[in-house]
Amino acid sequence: MKYIWILLAFFLLLSGCSSSANTNAILEVQTYTLEEVSLHNSSESCYTAIDGKVYDLTTWIAIHPGGDAAILSLCGIDGSEKFNEKHGNSGSAKYELSLFYIGELAP
Ligand code: HEM
Repeated sequence: MKYIWILLAFFLLLSGCSSSANTNAILEVQTYTLEEVSLHNSSESCYTAIDGKVYDLTTWIAIHPGGDAAILSLCGIDGSEKFNEKHGNSGSAKYELSLFYIGELAP
């Protein structure tokens, strides 16, 4: 009889493990269309898309070492070309950019 309790405890333990694994698997990534990005086209709210990813650069406008105009020129658009032209080979700019990631650009 006591083996039944041991078996039951074992199955309970197993089912607990699998449900927590599932919870981890359903973290979803936010996606934005270019149209949604285009609504955030000012210093009040500045989103840009770079290489298929979307960034909220609002707080970066005032502190960008290259000046605010460079960042304002990216607000609301796909800024891949401008960003890569200037910073395509800059690890620090790419790292800084990653801090503002908010989601993926919808295909
Ligand atoms: C997402 C947008 C951007 C991020 C996260 C970013 C980040 C940075 C960082 C970290 C620096 C300091 C040092 C370095 O060069 O690595 C910098 C400097 C600079 N950035 Fe940007 N940048 C962005 C966009 C742009 C754009 C579009 C332009 C111009 C078209 C630009 C022009 C400059 C200039 C002129 C400097 C001053 C130092 C230099 O001449 O390299 N940046 N930026």
